[in-house]
Amino acid sequence: MGFRDKVVYQVYPKSFCDSNHDGWGDLKGIISKLDYLEKLGIDYIWINPVFISPQKDNGYDVADYRRIDPRYGTMQDLEELCEAARNHNIDIMLDMVFNHTSTDHEWFQKALAGDEKYRKYYFFRKPSENGGAPNNWQSKFGGSAWQYVDELNEYYLHLFDPGQADLDWTNPDVREECADIVRFWMGKGVRGFRFDVINLISKAGFDDDPNEFDGRQFYTDGPHVHEYLKELNENSFGRDSFCMTVGEMSSTTIDNCIRYSGSESHELTSVFTFHHLKVDYKNQKKWELQPFDFKELKRLLALWQTEMQVKDAWNANFWNNHDQPRALSRFGDDKNYPAESGKMLATVIHMMRGTPYIFEGEEIGMTNAYFTDIRQYKDVESINIYDILKKEGKDEQEILHILNERSRDNARTPMQWDDSPNAGFTDGIPWISVNENYRSVNAEKALKEPDSLFYHYQKLIRLRKQYPVIQSGLFRHILEDHDSVYAFMRTLDDTSLICVNNFYGKETEISLDDIDGYRILISSYKDTEPRNHMILRPYESFVMIRG
Ligand code: GLC
Repeated sequence: MGFRDKVVYQVYPKSFCDSNHDGWGDLKGIISKLDYLEKLGIDYIWINPVFISPQKDNGYDVADYRRIDPRYGTMQDLEELCEAARNHNIDIMLDMVFNHTSTDHEWFQKALAGDEKYRKYYFFRKPSENGGAPNNWQSKFGGSAWQYVDELNEYYLHLFDPGQADLDWTNPDVREECADIVRFWMGKGVRGFRFDVINLISKAGFDDDPNEFDGRQFYTDGPHVHEYLKELNENSFGRDSFCMTVGEMSSTTIDNCIRYSGSESHELTSVFTFHHLKVDYKNQKKWELQPFDFKELKRLLALWQTEMQVKDAWNANFWNNHDQPRALSRFGDDKNYPAESGKMLATVIHMMRGTPYIFEGEEIGMTNAYFTDIRQYKDVESINIYDILKKEGKDEQEILHILNERSRDNARTPMQWDDSPNAGFTDGIPWISVNENYRSVNAEKALKEPDSLFYHYQKLIRLRKQYPVIQSGLFRHILEDHDSVYAFMRTLDDTSLICVNNFYGKETEISLDDIDGYRILISSYKDTEPRNHMILRPYESFVMIRG
């Protein structure tokens, strides 16, 4: 496992940096920020899809996997980015969307035109006996998962938007196409891949979901998914031992993730899982709000840490990505304690066992968007849910409040580089509104303040490289019953490390048995002194090491 000292930075390219005044971020924009990223100290940049796409789901509807969408630049820009990043000790990780293609993709268009070969790339099915959709499965973006095609008198499956048709991985031609796409990008100098919702690729039949649920039990971690991943590994990225991979696993289980990322499995390097990001879903429902359940959050983080290490499997650790509201607004306090709570949240992710991911802007304390008008939202999921909740009779203000807390657009507002108009992201008209707080929250300001969140991240990244115990130490949950503190130990040979984090804006007391010989490595307050009995200040967080 050669990747344990690595840290990944996620760039949402549309919102990162615009070099050509069209209000849309691009590859040249990323190149212009490599000095900044090198300064932060990250090893990989994961870039969300930049391929040809009608952008129904912001690029997760790929119409051509081998061409760059001109709004992002050219193939030459991509090659230049790989090379320039290398000169900054950074590698590029691309996003492979293989559960589905855009319905604009040539394969789907040929299928529609009646080409038998390509019909078999997708799931076309006759209407059910009553003339409706073949089964009761629901799309993850709302509504039926089946779209009717008049000319064919058939439906096709789309677990996401109707513009994203699911690929049939039982077809060996589909699997070979995907492997070939990965090889193509490896040939361009790409050294890492993130596989989008990859645990949904194997469907276990098409029965109705008897629980009147959404059908996920039939396609999540399906019967052949491990086989398909082993094959993809063997035929593509597995041929380069420097190639790092991460699979996005939707509603998965620990047992499956052990297989996806176990060191002996030959599937993927690591997995993204989401259980810890549902602790503020009331009744498990994304669009129903409740304050986050801290005990459950602790339990889930510690459970995944301890169970995965037993089989030497590997987590990708994160709070933020392009599909999640900003963690600082969600689990921290973006108004009263932005610096303290931001540092605390960062420390948790970077000190656990697994690869830390930073989502653009997290390192400078970017917050939720707090949009006040539905027209500011661009995300297909947010717009769909707005319509659905409206139909259910909810009032406008309540819906906007829910979106303020939960919309994916909270993460997608432009990166705040400085306090010039549009936060220095573009000198055109940004595709989505800039967060109004950019005058006080921006990278230029963060770089000038030695005690800023940016430098806390920089230090956390350096510590990972310096201390093998952070990379590989065993995880043990401590202070398990504490109501407001999440704490754990990491141990490797004679070294042990203790990480303590107060998740609330109130003082709280802790007792630690044995602190002899420990010294502080990093903390969210300047003057933290470890003691057996301590009062932790609001969001106080520290790491100490012995040995
Ligand atoms: C993943 C992506 C998300 C996208 C979905 C469908 O969850 O992260 O942005 O909408 O897959 O491709």
